Order: sequence, then C-alpha cells, then structure tokens
Amino acid sequence: MGDRNLEDSVTTLAWGGDNLKLIDQRKLPFEEVFVECRTALEAASAIKDMVVRGAPAIGVTAAYGVALAAIEYRGSDKKGLLEHLANSIKLLSGTRPTAVNLFWALKKMDKLIKDSKDLKPGQIRDKIISEAKKIEIEDIKINKMIGQNGLKVFLKLKKEKFSILTHCNAGALATAGYGTALGVIRKLNEENLVKKVLVDETRPYLQGARLTSWELQKEKINFFVITDNMPAYFMSKGEVDAVVVGADRIAANGDTANKIGTLGLSILAKKFGIPFFVAAPVSTIDFDTKTGESIEIEIRSEDEIRKVMGRQIVPDYMDVINPAFDVSKASNITAIITEKGPLYPPYIKSIRKVKDGGRR
Ligand code: MRU
Repeated sequence: MGDRNLEDSVTTLAWGGDNLKLIDQRKLPFEEVFVECRTALEAASAIKDMVVRGAPAIGVTAAYGVALAAIEYRGSDKKGLLEHLANSIKLLSGTRPTAVNLFWALKKMDKLIKDSKDLKPGQIRDKIISEAKKIEIEDIKINKMIGQNGLKVFLKLKKEKFSILTHCNAGALATAGYGTALGVIRKLNEENLVKKVLVDETRPYLQGARLTSWELQKEKINFFVITDNMPAYFMSKGEVDAVVVGADRIAANGDTANKIGTLGLSILAKKFGIPFFVAAPVSTIDFDTKTGESIEIEIRSEDEIRKVMGRQIVPDYMDVINPAFDVSKASNITAIITEKGPLYPPYIKSIRKVKDGGRR
C-alpha cells in the first residue's frame, strides 16, 4: 500500500512505488529508523537479518521482494524477466524456514507469474506489484477479523477484565498492521476488557521486551514485561486469565510452531487450567504438513545466545545452541482464532473444514 503513512502509530512496512521501507526491528525500541530495500536481494537480506520478522510480515515482505525483482530487471525480453523472477523467488524462499507465510506468499506470486506468462513484461510487472499490495492490505483486514473473533472467544470466558500473557511479538510489527495475538489484545482493549498484559521478554531476541512492549506503550495498554522464567509464578498466583500467542506454522492436526518458549507456556497453561489461544490467519495453516513433528525448526546464530544487546555474556569457548521455534501440541491449545472464526478441537476436523471452505 504505497500511500501508507510513516507517521501511523506502528508502521511495519511501506511500499514506495519502487522501494520498500521497513522499520528496523533490530533497533527498536531505542531507535525508530527505516531500512529501504530497492532489490529482491535487499528484501531477502532484510528477512534473513531480522530487520523484519514475524510470519505474516515476512510473507508480505517476500511478496514485495518479488515486486522489486520485477522492477529491477533492466532487460526488455520476457524470457529474461521470467528467469529473474524465478531466481528471486528461490532467493527469497531460502531466507527463513519455519514461517509458512513466506512460502504461502511466494507460491501465490509464482502462480500469478505463471498465469500471466502470455502478457507483456510491463503488464506482468504491474500485476505482480498489485498482487503484493493486495497481500498487504488483506493482511491488515484479516488481522482485524481475527481481533473481532478473539473478542467473541474471550467474551465466552465471562470475566469483567482479563490479565493476558503473550509471548514474542505477534503485533503490528509482525504483520502488515494490527497484529494477530496483539490484534486480539488491541480489540479487547478497545472494549475496555484488558486489565493488564504480561509480556514475556522472549530470549534470546527479546521480541517481547523490545517490540511488544513498544507497541503496547504506543497503544496505552497496561502491561508489564516479565522474564521467560516467570510465567509459572504468575499463573500459580491466579494472575493469568488467558494466554494468547501467534503462530509461524500450524500443522493439519493443530500442532503449532511458534517462538521458542511457547511450548512451555502451553504445557503450563494446561496444568493451571488457563485457556491457551493461538491467533493466526488461515495462511499460517500448512495443510500439507500432517503433524508438528515435520515442521522444520530454524536454528539461528549462536551469537544471539552469547550476547545480549551486543554485550557478551557467554564466552566464545562455551557451547550454545539456538533453536528459534518450538511446537505446541494441539491437545494443549484451547482454540485457534482465525479470520474465519475460532477453530476448536478436534483440529483435524475443524482445520479440514477450513481447507474445504466450509463451516467449522
Ligand atoms: O523469529 P520471529 O521474531 O520471526 O518469530 C516470530 C514469532 O514467533 C511470532 O509469534 C509469529 O511469527 C507470529 S507473528 C503474527
């Protein structure tokens, strides 16, 4: 959406006609600066280097990455353009392995290119740009619907106000806008239903401490940041009414990959009888992956564990390992809140109905 205003309260990305501006999420909350991508390679690097992160935001960025590939191609021959587009899609798909929205968006772009192969190069380019804009605009709409559906789910819990725990950042920054898990929280707050939000700091990348808190602060929603070893304490004190998190990939049986640490929360929530909700668009469901066991988990740089905000806390001679995601079992998930409504167990059935386009 080229005309998006950088002064909006949270702007994750803004299309500028021949460039994509991304807020540099590595620098938040201390600096609000934008990185400009003018090539598919720059968009791919921005995803890989975590300038932009969060499953839906990665998908939208990848779609614009293909648009940049179409614009940067200088030749006039169609064959060369199509080859360049195919190479750029390959490049973009190699950036991060777990979030399925990346592959979903690239598949969509690939299909559009294949369906347009009889058009002139300029027409193909225009179609690609409009498709990327459409993916962006729809993402925001979908997130608002997730928020509405989340409100309905929470109202059924019949409480006056909620203390909600969230992990990582599934907010506007992780999407084209509004957010999924934070979208639900935003909507509840609009209805004056939020008592407070407990924000897990989310080691090692600190998406909770740096990004979720930044968004909640801007929205004036009550919150406090806790470290990742504190949720059991607050749950045991009765200070958590519900957990709501986003997702990077949901298998056909409901198993859900999300930021490392989510698995522990889902087990704890079950133990303490606290509803555990996943909020995600249907594009995060990987209908071709049967169970969570076959979801590829990204292993990230050791430096993210060794250093906190650039300061070394574990010496180089000590071994560390850094899996970026884990998989929560479907049996520990109370509901998956999508734009098509909440999905309830048995997920094999409710997810299949979504796939077939029917009612749950
Ligand atoms: O490594 P990240 O920051 O990309 O991980 C992000 C998450 O795990 C989010 O919870 C998920 O992508 C959902 S975002 C709406």
